[in-house]
Parts: sequence; C-alpha cells; structure tokens
Amino acid sequence: MMLLVGHGSFLLELIQFNDYNTRIQFDKKYVNRHRRICGTDPITHEGQKEEIPMQPYHFSNPNPMDAFSFTLPTEIVYGPGVLARLPEEMKRIGCTRPVIITDEGIVRAGIADRVRKLVEAAGYECIVYSGVEPNPKDANCEECACQARAFGVDSLIAVGGGSPIDCAKAVGVLLAHGADRIKPYEGKTAATKPQLPLIAIPTTSGTGSELTFSSVITDTENHYKMTVKSPFTAAKLALCDPELTVSVPPMVTASTGVDALTHAIEGYTANCGEPIADAFALYSIELIYHNLETAVKDGTDLPARSAMLMGSMLGGMSFSHSDVASVHCVAESLGGLYDLPHGMCNAIFLPYVMEYNMDYCVEKYARVAQAMGFFFTDAREGAQIAVSAVKELCRAVGLPDFRSLNVKTEDFDTIAEMSAKNISTESNPRPMTKEDYLEVLRMAYEA
Ligand SMILES: NC(=O)c1ccc[n+]([C@@H]2O[C@H](COP(=O)([O-])OP(=O)(O)OC[C@H]3O[C@@H](n4cnc5c(N)ncnc54)[C@H](O)[C@@H]3O)[C@@H](O)[C@H]2O)c1
Ligand SMILES: [Fe+2]
Repeated sequence: MMLLVGHGSFLLELIQFNDYNTRIQFDKKYVNRHRRICGTDPITHEGQKEEIPMQPYHFSNPNPMDAFSFTLPTEIVYGPGVLARLPEEMKRIGCTRPVIITDEGIVRAGIADRVRKLVEAAGYECIVYSGVEPNPKDANCEECACQARAFGVDSLIAVGGGSPIDCAKAVGVLLAHGADRIKPYEGKTAATKPQLPLIAIPTTSGTGSELTFSSVITDTENHYKMTVKSPFTAAKLALCDPELTVSVPPMVTASTGVDALTHAIEGYTANCGEPIADAFALYSIELIYHNLETAVKDGTDLPARSAMLMGSMLGGMSFSHSDVASVHCVAESLGGLYDLPHGMCNAIFLPYVMEYNMDYCVEKYARVAQAMGFFFTDAREGAQIAVSAVKELCRAVGLPDFRSLNVKTEDFDTIAEMSAKNISTESNPRPMTKEDYLEVLRMAYEA
C-alpha cells in the first residue's frame, strides 16, 4: 500500500496500515518541515527521497494491568456560541446568586459585560469581581472571598484565562472552609470540603484550568507560586466557547498555547501517568502542534481557535489525572519570582527539560513526535525530532529566549531550590535535585 505522511493524512492512512514494507510518499509541507527541524530530508536512502520502502518504529503499549482511578467531576459544554446557553445552564445547576470572577483584560474585551448581561437575563442578581491579577495573588482570592461572603453568593462564575479560573477555585476553598487566608490550603490534601458550584468559562486556550483540580496562586510573602489541589476545586460546569478566544492577543495566544502543549507532554511523560491520561495527551499534542502557529498568525481563524481550545482541554484533563513535571516546577519558580507569563516560562524550559530527561523516556518522546505527525524508524531519532519540533514551534510563534528576559544569573540558585521543592518534581521521569535544575537553567541560558 501507499502511505501518505503529513498533517491530516497521517492518522487516517495509519489506520489502514497493514504492511511493514510500506512505500512512503511525503507531502511537500512535511518534507519542508522535516528539513527545517531535522536538517535532513525525511529519509536519505541513496537517491530515494520521494518514494521509498521503510520499516516504521513500533511502540510498546501502555500496561493496562496497573490499577488506577479516574474521576471527571466537571460537565463539559463545548462549541462556538455556547456562551449563549449560560442562563439555561445556571437554572439547571441551581446557580442563582453568583459572583463573576474576572480580570481587567476580560472587562476591556467586553466579555465580562456579556456574561453579566446573560446572568441578568436569567433573572438573577450578581456581583462582579474584576481585580484578579496575572499569576493571581493570594490577596486577590482573599479580597474576592470577602466580597462574595458579604453578598451571600450561592455559586461562582469564572470568566477568563487560568488566572481568574484559579482565583475562583481558591475563593471556593475559602468559602467552603470559612477561611480568610489561602496559604493553609496549599498542597494536595488540605482542601477537604465540597465547594459551591463553579461555572468556568475559559477565554484562553492554555491552562485547561476549567477541567483541572488545581489552582495556582502566588504566595506574595515568599514570591512563589503555590498549588492548591483537590477534586473539590473542580468546576461543576465548563462552558467552553472557542469564539471567546478570538480576541486573545498573539503573544498571549503563543504563550498559553505552549503552556497547553507542555501540559500534554508532561501529562504523558510524568511517571505517575495512566492510559486514559496518555490518550488525552497524545490527541492534545496533535491538535496543538498543528494549530498553534495558525492561531497566533490569524486570531480570527475559528477552526484553529477551536482546535486549540479542545487541545488545551484535553491537555488539562491529562495532567490533572497524571501530573505536570519539571518544566512546570522551574517555570513556576521563575514566574513567581519575576511575575512573568506562565506559558512563556514553560516555553523557555520545555525543550531543555526534554533533552535532560531524554534517556529516561526515549520511547514516550518518540510518541510525542508521532503525535506531531513525524515518521521515523528509530525511537531515539523520534525523540530528538520531538525536541527540535518544540524548539522550532516556540521560535515560529515568536516566544522569547531565556537571555532576553534579563533574569539575573545570581537568582538561578533560588530558582533551582524552589523548583526542587515543587510538589510536581517527584513526577518528573528523571529524578531531579537542585543541581539538576541548575543544569537545566544553564542549558536554557546558554542555548
Ligand atoms: N489551574 C491549573 O490547572 C493551571 C495550569 C497551568 C497554569 N495555571 C496558571 O494559570 C495562570 C495563567 O493563565 P493564562 O495563561 O490563561 O493567562 P491569564 O489568565 O493570566 O491571562 C493573560 C492575559 O490575557 C488576557 N486575556 C485572556 N483572555 C482574553 C481574551 N479572550 N481576549 C483578550 N484578552 C484576554 C487577560 O486579561 C490577561 O491580561 C498562571 O497563574 C498559571 O500558573 C493554572
Ligand atoms: Fe501550566
């Protein structure tokens, strides 16, 4: 049979794959990308570049004998225009007196007002808290909880990227526990009480926070980002409307998109993964890899925006059931110290952590390359292609390199120390100490 390799054709043709001695024909776009990323044509058998016989790499399967549990407490309503369903969804889940939690950018984009009008159209009173800062601060959650309590809310509506959604989850923790400070709820076991219903309306394609159990809040006293993680923080409903993401500026699209890609890659390669999280991750990688550049270059491209939102949702579900790992540990340490965009920090470290982890998950990185649409005959070759593809994608969408952020090298020690203490360090496929993080910081800085 003939196998066509390249975006779109790849998976369909692979399903029909029945002959090891398949003849491969590469489409032009694929050959060009392979040349850019790998510096070679896809196959360099003497004289044969267009059509050649080859033996594809065969992956071992995940072990379905290992025990695990899988909880997905959030109902998903997805599709262009679904925001209009907010009034009926509020009635259905008994959300009658909400606080709308958002930020100034969402107010300026006119999205917060649209949501407020829909709540009022349902016949309900609400208050709007728009004081959420990027890398949401402990004080934002505490102030919002105070206002929500005074108004007597029975529910929460988060509108925005990860910052407002994470803030809303932390407000839920404070209200459920009758608490004023979020710090005591840091970690995976401290939030133990069921929360008021939360409707999460994402406006970026990045964090997947609308479907995760995590809330990342900046501890302003210690300048670091703590995680409050519990299934109780999960939204009751995620109203996922890709139309809300068309106004995201290109640089935010780029950094949030690479955040989503990092969730999928780390969710897939973390040492606590399981097959369902793996499946979500691999489809997420495929969607993001093939749509991020288009979404950055033309924000009004709704098919690309829709694919990105779905990719970020799948990535969120993956890492929430598996975990993130060292990319996030070092990105959060840097982001907490310098108040930098989370996705941008991930983009800086993702390829270098992958390089550093290489010997510990060659085959999984090769699967990442396969999900991106690359074809190879050897796992290590595939894994290296995945690293190069990530580097090229970050460059193509205009994300900066580490040096251009003017981070002081004297701070590397603190960043490495905070990274080693992050709760997700233990999930990295390669064991990581402070010295390992220093090495990753050096690799990224000297690149
Ligand atoms: N909870 C989780 O599972 C999880 C996972 C990863 C990251 N995070 C956290 O999420 C936060 C980052 O969230 P984010 O990357 O979505 O960014 P963000 O929520 O901070 O938003 C970034 C900027 O984009 C603007 N914006 C958002 N949507 C817009 C739209 N539709 N139109 C115009 N402007 C828009 C916002 O106003 C803001 O200025 C970080 O604190 C990060 O640590 C959480
Ligand atoms: Fe993230």
